[in-house]
Amino acid sequence: MTRLPDFPWDSLAEVKARAQAHPGGIVDLSIGTPVDPVPASIRDALALVSDIPGYPATHGTPALRSAAVEALGRRYGITGIEPDAVLPTIGSKEAVAWLPRLLGFGPGDAVVIPELAYPTYEVGALLAGAEPVRADGLTQLGPRRPAMIWLNSPSNPTGRVLGVEHLRKVVEWARERGTIVVSDECYLSLGWEAEPLSVLHPSVHGGRTDGLLALHSLSKSANLASYRAGFVTGDPKLVKDLLEVRKHAGMIVPRPVQEAMVAALTDDEALAAQRERYQRRRLVLRKALQNHGFQISHSEAGLYLWVTRGEPALRTVDWLADRGILVAPGSFYGPSGDSHVRVALTATDERIEAAADRLAG
Ligand SMILES: Cc1ncc(COP(=O)(O)O)c(C=O)c1O
Repeated sequence: MTRLPDFPWDSLAEVKARAQAHPGGIVDLSIGTPVDPVPASIRDALALVSDIPGYPATHGTPALRSAAVEALGRRYGITGIEPDAVLPTIGSKEAVAWLPRLLGFGPGDAVVIPELAYPTYEVGALLAGAEPVRADGLTQLGPRRPAMIWLNSPSNPTGRVLGVEHLRKVVEWARERGTIVVSDECYLSLGWEAEPLSVLHPSVHGGRTDGLLALHSLSKSANLASYRAGFVTGDPKLVKDLLEVRKHAGMIVPRPVQEAMVAALTDDEALAAQRERYQRRRLVLRKALQNHGFQISHSEAGLYLWVTRGEPALRTVDWLADRGILVAPGSFYGPSGDSHVRVALTATDERIEAAADRLAG
């Protein structure tokens, strides 16, 4: 059995119980789980196809692949993707966890992950038997030729956005070494003070997608976390290889969810409405935290505020839990996060106001 790290959120049980005991109830900002309604267009699409008895296609319906290509163009200026180079995934977490293995990497291969990162990147490298290497800069990697390198902009947990120059340099560097670049873009629609850019934007790759993959998720952009809906796209050859192995392995998105994904990828109004909700909540929380003396680092995009009081993260987690507010310690995301906490924007307006009031009082 592969030795994996302990599941970080399990360690929050005690502080969570303390936050729950607050007379005004808990404000749980520890996990980025959507709380707003699933848009009506998506629920209708799901209901329409509840009576399909046969197996779904691993590659997804043609309508789904086209809807993804069109949404990538309209929403993010990504051009030149053929619909066949889109492959649905069962949410993006499974893709993060299995991609190194599905791409054929294993012992002796290095998988580069950000210094501060969504924990599943490390898990995915370990599941493949590969070596996870934390690095934010290419110079840190020296003469290594990693098998693959993960990018995540906007970042979970820091909200940092990588600029076009940074992305270009990574792509060039990786091409020189035969390294595959996989960009996890699940927060791409949530730019606040910076405009996030896909690795598949022509200004980054100059018209060549070979060696590049991007993961997209509908969990946060369309409130579809419970449906498990995402897709991978980019280099047609890599996507074809992934399709082959996923067909064999039964990694198939359920047909009703495929239909819901078409609606989610088409409904730009629902996307804009959700963005506005998060934008409002972000401003309320940011002001309340800043007024209370918290310093906000990065956080120019994405679903989280990355904040510090210049003390060990667990002390901040405790202090907030005593006020009924639950957040995640930065140490969940890497050793250099141990003086920050991550505050998610995913609570109702009422709960966000409650958190702000508690910080003010
Ligand atoms: C950076 C990052 N990637 C991937 C995921 C997985 O999202 P999902 O499986 O819901 O698509 C998350 C979830 O929070 C995330 O933060």
